[in-house]
Amino acid sequence: MTDDLIRKAAKDLAAAKSVAALTGAGISVESGIPPFRGRGGIWEKIDPSYADIDRFMRNPADVWNVLIKEMKEIIDKAKPNDGHKGLAKLEELGKLNTIITQNVDGLHQMAGNTDVIEFHGTFAWQRCLDCDERCETSKVELTEIPPRCKCGGIYRPEVIFFGEMIPYKALLRSKEIASSCDIMLVIGTSATVHPAAMMPGVAKENGAKIIEINLDETPLTGHISDYLVKGKAGQVMNAILAEMESLA
Ligand code: APR
Repeated sequence: MTDDLIRKAAKDLAAAKSVAALTGAGISVESGIPPFRGRGGIWEKIDPSYADIDRFMRNPADVWNVLIKEMKEIIDKAKPNDGHKGLAKLEELGKLNTIITQNVDGLHQMAGNTDVIEFHGTFAWQRCLDCDERCETSKVELTEIPPRCKCGGIYRPEVIFFGEMIPYKALLRSKEIASSCDIMLVIGTSATVHPAAMMPGVAKENGAKIIEINLDETPLTGHISDYLVKGKAGQVMNAILAEMESLA
């Protein structure tokens, strides 16, 4: 079954004029970054309220200690896997234009994709709550928690916490991209957090083919998605690209 779908996806991508991708935490699992939901999900161990902006503002030290410190240790070490590299290859082949990612790990850019919309912000930068001074996360010392700016203000990651608005430019551009692609690859997302999870529906509304790559079914499967290629993102992307090569 999956082999047929690999062949189908390769044919669809080979014929496509403008491919977009929506990615979620699942594409980074093979880089050692745990997902939020499902097997080994972060929210099974940590209360999701730690990702609320009010909880952060009430007690930044607690959120730094419980959530952000561990994220920094994991992301500082993470490298792109075959899933990210497969999307970079699709851009090289002139197939994929834009990735809309819910991930904050910067691995798509590290893999070589040049147009990445960071829908939930980025963990690569911290910003001072008092003077807005920015500092690269990899350069932030954790000798003191929460880490502070030279002015004494507390640093916060430039990610979008629950309860914060999606950056308007990211939202607008994502809708434009979703409205104009002829294929949307939806990779490694549980499609449960809005408005990111709306983007495949926007693409579908505008006539795009929606191809899911995931270990499991999601609310999109059988409704919005044309088909789900079940498997690990890295392995599926390798197989699709190999099949595309054999078609060329
Ligand atoms: N390959 C493909 N898919 C995978 C893999 C893998 N190796 N491992 C896990 N998955 C799938 C899971 O089956 C699940 O459907 O990836 C999905 C991960 O879902 P979530 O952890 O919910 O991640 P995501 O959809 O990105 O979450 C959206 O929620 O907590 C917030 O802001 C956070 O951006 C995040 C948002």
